[in-house]
Amino acid sequence: MSTRQGLADELARARQRTLRLVDFDDDELRRQYDPLMSPLVWDLAHIGQQEELWLLRGGNPEAPGLLDPAVEGLYDAFVHNRASRVDLPLMSPAQAHTYLRTVRDRALDSLDGLPDEDPGFSFALVVSHENQHDETMLQALNLRSGTPLLGAGEALPGGRRDVAGTSVPIPGGPFVLGVDAADEPSSLDNERPAHVVDVPGFRIGTVPVTNAEWQQFVDDGGYQRPQWWSARGWEHRRQAGLSAPQFWNTGELAGTRTRFGHVEAVPADEPVQHVGFFEAQAYAAWAGARLPTEIEWEKACAWDPDLGCRRRYPWGSAPPTDERANLGGDALRPAPVGAYPGGASAYGAEQMLGDVWEWTTSPLRPWPGFTPMVYERYSAPFFDGDYRVLRGGSWAVSADILRPSFRNWDHPIRRQIFSGVRLAWDL
Ligand code: AVJ
Ligand code: FE
Repeated sequence: MSTRQGLADELARARQRTLRLVDFDDDELRRQYDPLMSPLVWDLAHIGQQEELWLLRGGNPEAPGLLDPAVEGLYDAFVHNRASRVDLPLMSPAQAHTYLRTVRDRALDSLDGLPDEDPGFSFALVVSHENQHDETMLQALNLRSGTPLLGAGEALPGGRRDVAGTSVPIPGGPFVLGVDAADEPSSLDNERPAHVVDVPGFRIGTVPVTNAEWQQFVDDGGYQRPQWWSARGWEHRRQAGLSAPQFWNTGELAGTRTRFGHVEAVPADEPVQHVGFFEAQAYAAWAGARLPTEIEWEKACAWDPDLGCRRRYPWGSAPPTDERANLGGDALRPAPVGAYPGGASAYGAEQMLGDVWEWTTSPLRPWPGFTPMVYERYSAPFFDGDYRVLRGGSWAVSADILRPSFRNWDHPIRRQIFSGVRLAWDL
């Protein structure tokens, strides 16, 4: 995994994904599909700029680089917010492609000179960064209107409908939360360090909440009744006029959704996607449940109560495959619930990795002993902000970067992300 060849393969896989997501004409790449997202050509060049910074300049922005500093500055996510990027004098798609190729060639040359057993963390960081932006580009493409650019997605295994709505008990007791670099060299700063946490017993959904279940919430007036919503959530629901998950159609198209431009029936047994934290919370209240904390979620995903240790993946130590999880982005949608009995955790929770990101009640905070990694502003600027943690990865996440300890976060109102819900209950 962290050998030179392993990293070279991961870099190549990430780049293959990226190039497929920008295989469109120049006007397309410069378009702003939605103010929430960057034009694709911004993501493309930003991927190269970050790779250059971490792999060719040792993380030192003062070190001489390949780009004019004024051009490089256009790709600083902290200086230019997403809504404004379409108006910047960005590199052309051709310039961006040449830049990425140059950076990658030099990065591979430098990888060749590193020790095979430990080529260093920066390469894993760059693999994670590029793959994360690939998911961001998929979010952008999903917001695009007009004739679809992408197909309907690759086939997925069938589900087991009767598993919807069921839950598994997680007995109380201590477990190890988070990971250390020694065990997970590619883990990011916010996943570390490993430490013992005692968690009271709870139940957690065997699988995520489905579209059919969500439809019952809609039909029962869930979006009309403030009793299920937090005060802030209700205020947002009202102002934004929310009445169903994003991309569910109304009027003549009721019962359908639009996905990457394809209009199709809402699949009953698929995990609900494109709901925000406030909606997730309201659904949970209506269902007589609650959302899990991210600590509960990680225990249900990774802890092996018989052996008293963490599993590398929910199902054990073997790497993800198409029989264990829906990852990698080619499906372009979640798999039906029950599609991965072979991916069950020690407690019997399924589809913990892949399919949909799962909202938790936890604001993003550092674990005790947090130390920023070389990319110091990856996590720390977002601690104590208005963010909630999402866990487990979506269908759009690469298996190369996902672990049970992986933490994602977003504002509670966001729902263009591939987000869904898994319920929890007190025992
Ligand atoms: C971890 C997904 C919230 O997209 O803002 C990409 C990942 N950080 N470039 C984001 C990230 C810097 C980050 N998330
Ligand atoms: Fe980035």
